[in-house]
Amino acid sequence: MCELKIPNHLAIIMDGNGRWATKLGKKRSYGHLEGSKTLEDLAVYSMKLGVKVLSVYAFSTDNFKRSEEEVNYLMNLFIKLFKTKLNKILDNNIKIVFSGRKEPLNKNVLDAMEEITEKTKNNNNGILNICLNYGGQEEIVDGVIRVINDIESGKISKNDLNKDLFSKYLYQDLPPIDLLIRTSGEYRVSNFMLYQMSYSELYFTDVLFPDFNEKELDKAIESYNKRDRRFGNAK
Ligand code: FPP
Repeated sequence: MCELKIPNHLAIIMDGNGRWATKLGKKRSYGHLEGSKTLEDLAVYSMKLGVKVLSVYAFSTDNFKRSEEEVNYLMNLFIKLFKTKLNKILDNNIKIVFSGRKEPLNKNVLDAMEEITEKTKNNNNGILNICLNYGGQEEIVDGVIRVINDIESGKISKNDLNKDLFSKYLYQDLPPIDLLIRTSGEYRVSNFMLYQMSYSELYFTDVLFPDFNEKELDKAIESYNKRDRRFGNAK
């Protein structure tokens, strides 16, 4: 049997935590907690398979519209995880980076993000890119502003600009996404990594995120292996 192709950059929209918990008669926050354990397992497993970058949608700029209770729960969960709990990620030599706007995250969250970034900066067994207070259109706008600044200060010339150079002005300089997974039966990309997903393969599953285990990831990768990626070329 020929070897499976493994996506170099895998991205996951981790959807369905709330519904998963509600189905069990629990609070939505329980779904986020279980989702965070699923994420930790998936990060370790995907790097074992050979994935180099895993990007995940942890909190969108629009998620601030949720109830204060849920936003506070998630922010406190992030702090706890970044400060002490991501043991599997740390044990597996995975580097953590963040994408998103700082404003209006509070100092405790920003400090915890900085702490884990610093702690894992020399790790070299793959990158976990956590999109937190993230929006894809916002990322492009923020990149454009930085490009304009660099043109105005003479650091680059307008003629230098092309799609590869522009990608260096995004929050993180990452390769294009090969496979994007969205759980929970929703068929949307919800403002996630719009620039990076130009040619990504899309995989949608009804499985709710806390149940998206290693076997489910295997199924997504099997589906990816059946795709004919032509990048605009003819057959
Ligand atoms: C979407 O499900 C999920 C979120 C908004 C939060 C995702 C966060 C985690 C999985 C924890 C991440 C942990 C780290 C370390 C980054 P939903 O709440 O929209 O579910 P629903 O559609 O069923 O309501």
